[in-house]
Amino acid sequence: MSTSQDRIIIFDTTLRDGEQSPGASMDVHEKVLVAKQLEMLGVDKIEAGFPISSPGDFDAVQAIAGEITKSSVVGLCRAKDEDIKAAWEAVKDARKPCIHTFIATSDIHLKYQLRMSREEVLKAVEHSVGLCSSLCNDVEFSAMDATRSDWDYLADVYTVAIEAGAKTINVPDTVGYTNPQEFYNLITHLRNKVRGIEKAVISVHCHNDLGMAVANSVSAVMAGARQIECTINGIGERAGNTSLEEVVMIFNVRKDLYGVVPAIDTTLLYPTSRLVSHITGIPVQPNKAVVGANAFAHESGIHQDGYLKERSTYEIMTPETVGFGMSRLVLGKHSGKHALSKRLEALGYHLDEKDVRKVFKRFKEIADKKKEIFDEDIEAIVLEEIYRVPAKYELKNIVVSSGTAVVPTATVQLAVDNKVIQEAGFGNGPVDALYKTIIRMSGFDAELKSFSIKAITGGTDAQGEVTIELEDKGKTAVGQGSDPDILVACAKALVNAMNRMEFLKGRKAMKTPSL
Ligand code: KIV
Ligand code: ZN
Repeated sequence: MSTSQDRIIIFDTTLRDGEQSPGASMDVHEKVLVAKQLEMLGVDKIEAGFPISSPGDFDAVQAIAGEITKSSVVGLCRAKDEDIKAAWEAVKDARKPCIHTFIATSDIHLKYQLRMSREEVLKAVEHSVGLCSSLCNDVEFSAMDATRSDWDYLADVYTVAIEAGAKTINVPDTVGYTNPQEFYNLITHLRNKVRGIEKAVISVHCHNDLGMAVANSVSAVMAGARQIECTINGIGERAGNTSLEEVVMIFNVRKDLYGVVPAIDTTLLYPTSRLVSHITGIPVQPNKAVVGANAFAHESGIHQDGYLKERSTYEIMTPETVGFGMSRLVLGKHSGKHALSKRLEALGYHLDEKDVRKVFKRFKEIADKKKEIFDEDIEAIVLEEIYRVPAKYELKNIVVSSGTAVVPTATVQLAVDNKVIQEAGFGNGPVDALYKTIIRMSGFDAELKSFSIKAITGGTDAQGEVTIELEDKGKTAVGQGSDPDILVACAKALVNAMNRMEFLKGRKAMKTPSL
């Protein structure tokens, strides 16, 4: 498998398509944190948002453009003048700016959504890609719903886009409809039929509706595509997008087969996955390939026996390669700041002195309650202390009483816009009492849609990690919290979700991005 460009470009869209996951929303500060982590990971392009869709998105893209120096910063826009201008405004100060414009090309979209003829779409492509190219050197064009479009018409559309200046032509499987063999044939067809194709990079953007996003992306690379659009943990619209960590490890583990490897620091895959899960509140399923909690767990006796004799009998990649549990060394209350900071580095967290001090302070508090501090505990401290945004609601104190002979009662101190208020309330159990009280204090008319709790490590002194989903007037927000005291973890998760809800309320769409 070889083409003129023997390198795979990783285009990350966690901050754009990933943010379209139900319940996931990130504010500007969180998006910048994720973008910096993606840059450290080594992604070539970061799609930072859809600037016309809301003032918050515009600000986030602009802020990321101002911070990121190594990766390209991409702004998405429809094939409309006002979108294109907004995208350019947002990315123009980036060291490597890129505009990504799109329009649908399938007959079904043309007839029911765009209400345009094929000819009109061709003209719109010529005009919009031309406008993008007059503003920016790096322009990507996507034919939305490409996999359900007429193949010859699609080839004409991409020919026009390249003639108008597109440097990358993206082939989205918008509704996750294709399969690896068909997608291979489509990419081959485009390589044969699109005039000027040798001047452009072929990119693919796959959705996971039938669970084939990763396989389809890999198949496209075998047919000559050289850019993969993907997201951390595979998050995204509906069933999500191609998972970055999976495609990256496929090309790493099977270099012998593919001969092309993306320039990603694989040891940062796991910390990045945890960071995105924490910030979006979307948990990673335990059996998820590469970054799931069980990805390197050997349960069966036969497997354990083989593994203990020789790791490679049952391990095609080591956990260390993906930054998973870099060491099994345990820290405790006698460990010093130096040991902690070395462990942070090994776990992929490159923090400055001020942040290391913050983590160390919390580490000592937890070490007083918990004998052994594992990597997972350290990671939870970093996510809580460093990546948690300052926001409207801040949990100050809780006192909860429950048992067989008392009515469960919670007393809560909450700072709302820095003003501390206190209230008490009852419930059917301790969590119910706590949640009813906090929700009443917040003024939200919110309902708890889902609640899950897990122990971060083993043992009765383990930290609990709580993930919840809150709904208020049709909007949902997720929240996460961790603490050795599970009721404190519950309260932290709720306050985190309330802060996200607040952010969503302030994020009124400037324009509904209809097509
Ligand atoms: O799925 C899709 O078609 C998209 C485009 C905007 C590339 O996300
Ligand atoms: Zn998409």
